[in-house]
Amino acid sequence: MQKRELGKSGLEVSAIGLGCMGLSYGYGPATDIQEAVSLIRQAFERGVTFFDTAEAYGPYKNEELLGEALAPFRSEVVIATKFGFNFDANGGQSGMNSRPEHIRAVADQALKRLKTDVIDLFYQHRVDPDVPIEDVAGTVKALISEGKVKHFGLSEAGVQTIRRAHAVQPVTALQSEYSLWWREPEQEILPTLEKLGIGFVPFSPLGKGFLTGAISEATTFDSKDFRNIVPRFSKEARKANQALVDLLTAIAARKKATSAQVALAWLLAQKPWIVPIPGTTKLHRLEENIRAAEVELTAEDLTNIESALATIKVEGDRYPAHLQARVNR
Ligand SMILES: NC(=O)c1ccc[n+]([C@@H]2O[C@H](COP(=O)([O-])OP(=O)(O)OC[C@H]3O[C@@H](n4cnc5c(N)ncnc54)[C@H](OP(=O)(O)O)[C@@H]3O)[C@@H](O)[C@H]2O)c1
Repeated sequence: MQKRELGKSGLEVSAIGLGCMGLSYGYGPATDIQEAVSLIRQAFERGVTFFDTAEAYGPYKNEELLGEALAPFRSEVVIATKFGFNFDANGGQSGMNSRPEHIRAVADQALKRLKTDVIDLFYQHRVDPDVPIEDVAGTVKALISEGKVKHFGLSEAGVQTIRRAHAVQPVTALQSEYSLWWREPEQEILPTLEKLGIGFVPFSPLGKGFLTGAISEATTFDSKDFRNIVPRFSKEARKANQALVDLLTAIAARKKATSAQVALAWLLAQKPWIVPIPGTTKLHRLEENIRAAEVELTAEDLTNIESALATIKVEGDRYPAHLQARVNR
């Protein structure tokens, strides 16, 4: 697969990465460990060199999974993980925590779980209103100088926070939601990243599965599936948003591609420093998503998509209110 550089950081990764969260967390029961290990290794064999995880996925289980799966070719891949929460005894999130001593402890534990001596990219998972971002950036800077971390990242941070962090420790990548049905980053975020030479890693690039056409009004989710509490996935919203899926299906047919591939190719076409990280638990979908790197959207395709999108209003918030309060700070 083609490679891309995340901003001007020198960090080179496959044009499409693998989001590993859903293998352990978020979308219902975890995938069997050996199946998940095999899927991750098959991704590597097919050219994926960028793997995304977080302490919070499980918690801990997803990092442990990547540690096992990637050990045989550790030096050939880039592992990104994240810090920034406390957890209760049941594994639930019990608040944000980006205090310097906590970041240090999480780094040490993540290194063990990932079976590695360095974290390639260490993101703050959400901006912590109780800790100045300069202190967070300064702590990661120290971890970089100690050789425990190579690159610093932020997730769902606003432009002021990005600028302040970048002044202390250059930020390699911002990871935030961006896709055909969530385009807010185009307003302020993308121009800021371009100016500062920071790469962008869109999460949920397939709209948590909706943009692929595999989810309809009739779909029911597992009781543990996060989408049960997402307003954009209410029955009414799914019904209303079907127009977007229909549009994508039509474009995909013209391009002899699938809707998922068009959704990913569209992201790749926005900027050469954008690297989406679709997640899947299934090999055939992994292969389909990887092949999106070969789907080229022409300037005419992009204009057609743009004018078609302008006729569609996406319904439903992308997060419930208590989680919405944590983004774009
Ligand atoms: N920084 C953050 O706060 C944050 C938040 C969310 C996610 N993330 C990261 O971003 C990664 C990706 O995001 P995401 O998993 O939320 O959403 P996503 O990649 O947009 O969608 C994943 C969903 O789409 C389905 N899917 C994948 N490929 C498909 C295909 N070709 N056809 C039909 N369905 C397909 C998957 O189901 P199957 O498994 O059944 O294929 C899964 O339910 C995560 O794994 C995680 O690493 C980060």
